[in-house]
Amino acid sequence: MERKIIAITRGDGVGPEVVNEGLKILKIIAEFTDFSFEFRDAPAGGEVYKKYGNNLPDKSFDIIKGADALLFGAVGLPDLAPGVAETAILRIRQELDLYINLRPVKLYEPLRDRCPLKDEFIGDGIDITFVRENTEGLYANIGDITEDRAENLMVYTRKGCERIIRYAYEFAKKMGHSKVTSVDKANILKPSQLWRKIFHEIGENYPNLQKEDFYIDSYCQWLIRAPYKFQTVVTGNMFGDIISDEGAFLIGSLGMASSGNISPGKVSMYEPIHGSAPDISGKGIANPIGAILSVKLMKQESFQSSDIAKEIELSVEETLEEGRTIDLKNPEIETLTTKEMGNLIAEKLKLRLKR
Ligand code: NAI
Ligand code: MG
Repeated sequence: MERKIIAITRGDGVGPEVVNEGLKILKIIAEFTDFSFEFRDAPAGGEVYKKYGNNLPDKSFDIIKGADALLFGAVGLPDLAPGVAETAILRIRQELDLYINLRPVKLYEPLRDRCPLKDEFIGDGIDITFVRENTEGLYANIGDITEDRAENLMVYTRKGCERIIRYAYEFAKKMGHSKVTSVDKANILKPSQLWRKIFHEIGENYPNLQKEDFYIDSYCQWLIRAPYKFQTVVTGNMFGDIISDEGAFLIGSLGMASSGNISPGKVSMYEPIHGSAPDISGKGIANPIGAILSVKLMKQESFQSSDIAKEIELSVEETLEEGRTIDLKNPEIETLTTKEMGNLIAEKLKLRLKR
């Protein structure tokens, strides 16, 4: 029996709605496999800020630090200034040193009709995992602003580059990929020159993996021109932020995309990439798949359980043929609420795990 403690941060807006569906999946796993889970609530975000004047109370952060993994919904409220709720995420990433941001972009076959690209550009399918450096570069908040001047310093260290690039190669190996792509701006930026050098140095330990480099500007067009070419893509903090959002729309809806903020062997955080979606919250129509696939990533990355992860993914894919939330609307397929979608995926998973 493998017992795991999972911290749960539901957050604001649609956060609680989608996390509840992720929990259904974890409960099915507990029922039908050797895993058992203890869930501990770790409230954070805008609603919590309104109550306690702090978007991440110590009590919640202690629960997160003492857990094996964190399932996180989304934070942010329209009646609070930008950042008041959202800095909770940055604090978790920084203080737990979650240096890997893993963002899979996979177009499930039933959603080909929702991909904004023409068929010839989709080719034999889109299945990319972005591995984004999550702690260094321009987002490390080194800088200053006055009325007349503002600056941010882009610093990459050898240690910072090595650990993310090594992880990317290991990930590609684990997933059976044949190639690792690195995206940088080495023709202009010095940190990218160090990055590129280290990408090839470490690559020497992986003779069976092809390596390729792109400049970020060129990569942005290749990502929509021939997305089927890419498998594991490793990149720095800012470039990763931008291209993973571009990628997320290729799979049909922002509500489909999942992510992991990972520090191997330590507590890591899994969350859908979307925000609290105030325009649809409270209506029960949010797509829960980003949250459910975040549970899939948790199984795969934190709990070394790729077989269960695969079953979750297959359950999602099967469900998309039968019913969908409104963001994935198709007139020939039944439109479902958040809960109905979660129930259907949970049902499929139950059947698969019972076999
Ligand atoms: P958003 O991701 O919340 O929404 C963007 C659009 O996508 C909206 O039209 C929304 O209805 C739709 N959408 C999002 N999730 C969906 C889902 N599961 N199913 C169907 N449609 C979905 O981004 P927005 O509107 O820019 O931000 C809203 C709030 O969320 C802000 O306070 C923002 O700061 C915060 N935010 C929080 C994040 C997090 O907690 N990780 C990430 C991004 C934004
Ligand atoms: Mg972003």
